[in-house]
Amino acid sequence: MPVIPKILVFAGSLRTGAFSISTADAAMKELALQGAEVTRISLGDYPLPIMDQDLEKEKGVPETAQKLARQIAVHDGFLIASPEYNSSIPPLVKNTIDWVSRVRRDGGRPFKPFDGKVAALCSSSDGNFAGARGLYHLRAVLMACHVEVITPQCSVGRASEAFDEHGQFKDERMRHQMETVCRTLIERAAMMSTRIEH
Ligand SMILES: Cc1cc2nc3c(=O)[nH]c(=O)nc-3n(C[C@H](O)[C@H](O)[C@H](O)COP(=O)(O)O)c2cc1C
Repeated sequence: MPVIPKILVFAGSLRTGAFSISTADAAMKELALQGAEVTRISLGDYPLPIMDQDLEKEKGVPETAQKLARQIAVHDGFLIASPEYNSSIPPLVKNTIDWVSRVRRDGGRPFKPFDGKVAALCSSSDGNFAGARGLYHLRAVLMACHVEVITPQCSVGRASEAFDEHGQFKDERMRHQMETVCRTLIERAAMMSTRIEH
């Protein structure tokens, strides 16, 4: 029986009306349309302090990071729709990845949440670069965490005008880019499937 890939989707912004949230929503719809089982989360439900090794030594990895690590582990892959800040990764995304990368055990057993996972990246910005420069850095960080990051990516420029009232891309090229990202992610996730079953 073919594997139905389970994909986790989240935005790298908590801002009300964030372009990243619209982009993550568009990705979620496209992934579901293409047959994936999609879980949409908000990083707002996983609040984390700024990474501080003294805090980590004193209190261990926060339970929210552990919870997010488990979410990642029960999926085959994930998709991040991120803004770029100063041509790089926004602190919310970097801090979240940093904490999850410190999760080493679950219930006393060795646990590496990122190992064997596949990821797709999207960005959005009102600027002309569409947030694409930040994705180079995000890609490198995830690869350092042993995540396979697929080559196709979707960067939404002039994001304040990119979506119609139904949250669909107005531009056919954007639709096509997102379709390609989702198809590639699904194919690769089905092939690699390393998720932990409940
Ligand atoms: C600290 C900071 C740095 C930013 N740097 C960039 C940048 O390098 N390129 C860009 O296109 N937009 C930049 N922006 C603008 C964001 O793209 C814009 O605020 C966008 O709405 C954030 O994404 P969101 O809508 O998903 O929250 C920056 C915003 C902040 C707060």
